[in-house]
Amino acid sequence: MTQLESLRQYSLVVADTGDIDAVARWKPQDATTNPSLLLTSAEDPRFRHLMDRDMDRVFVNFGCEILKHIPGRVSTEVDAHLSFDTAKSIEKARRFVSLYEKAGVRRERVLIKLASTWEGIKAAGELEREGIHCNMTLLFSFAQAVACAEAGVTLISPFVGRIYDWYRQQKKVEDIPVEEDPGVASVVRIYNYYKKHGYKTQVMGASFRKTGQILALAGCDLLTIAPDLLKKLSDVRADVPRQLSPDTAQRSELQKISLNEKTFRWEHNQDAMATDKLAEGIRRFDADARKLEKLLISLSAAVTAK
Ligand code: E4P
Repeated sequence: MTQLESLRQYSLVVADTGDIDAVARWKPQDATTNPSLLLTSAEDPRFRHLMDRDMDRVFVNFGCEILKHIPGRVSTEVDAHLSFDTAKSIEKARRFVSLYEKAGVRRERVLIKLASTWEGIKAAGELEREGIHCNMTLLFSFAQAVACAEAGVTLISPFVGRIYDWYRQQKKVEDIPVEEDPGVASVVRIYNYYKKHGYKTQVMGASFRKTGQILALAGCDLLTIAPDLLKKLSDVRADVPRQLSPDTAQRSELQKISLNEKTFRWEHNQDAMATDKLAEGIRRFDADARKLEKLLISLSAAVTAK
């Protein structure tokens, strides 16, 4: 068995890409996109037919195309510039769902990705009540995870690699071994907390830099993995031992906590890595969305000039 096949016994494997050919090749259950991945795909001539003047439509066009190759759900991300606006985030999510439904895709097959800010989490709570399922992204702190579970969101994507990047830079080291990796430890803690206290919200480890981080989370509900790492996992023949399970989570000693807006903001702010990475993540996704908008304007100008 390859590591990928072995991993699939315990975790649902998701492809983290906007490359439709890669989705077709890896045949994951679900797929996730983000503005940076879709910018890369939009620059690729193979996907020119999915371009439109309206960026929301481009995101949905990619989503619909991806759904042709998978049995499960695709994640489509709300524009990062709405990260601090609950009402506008809800409006944008409803628009995505309505565009999907017009294209014949049921809302059950779509996860709306929102930044795990207080405002994003509130938006997700409201959307879930409307039957619009959410995937909370840019999740770095335990406080973000607690607030997402309390809001009853479908799924969270705690980032591993970006936490690892931050600590590597702070410690000025080339690598951090998996056993000491703070990104891996963050997902383990969140998974154990959710399972121990009976939360329904699913945990999908995201943002990986090396296969060791993925293997250390075997058993996590879902793992979203970029095509280069899927390839590496499928090139190695080895059994992967399960690391996370609801049973082992019961043995953890994590006390249940509850957060309101003030305590959420306080707790999140206590974590320097998480405040840095959330702020930077919003800036980066926003910058890539603005680049994509410019690209769409230039492509439509080129079509008009013909
Ligand atoms: C997935 O949901 C995330 O957008 C993705 O894993 C981020 O990965 P990166 O840190 O490699 O950009």
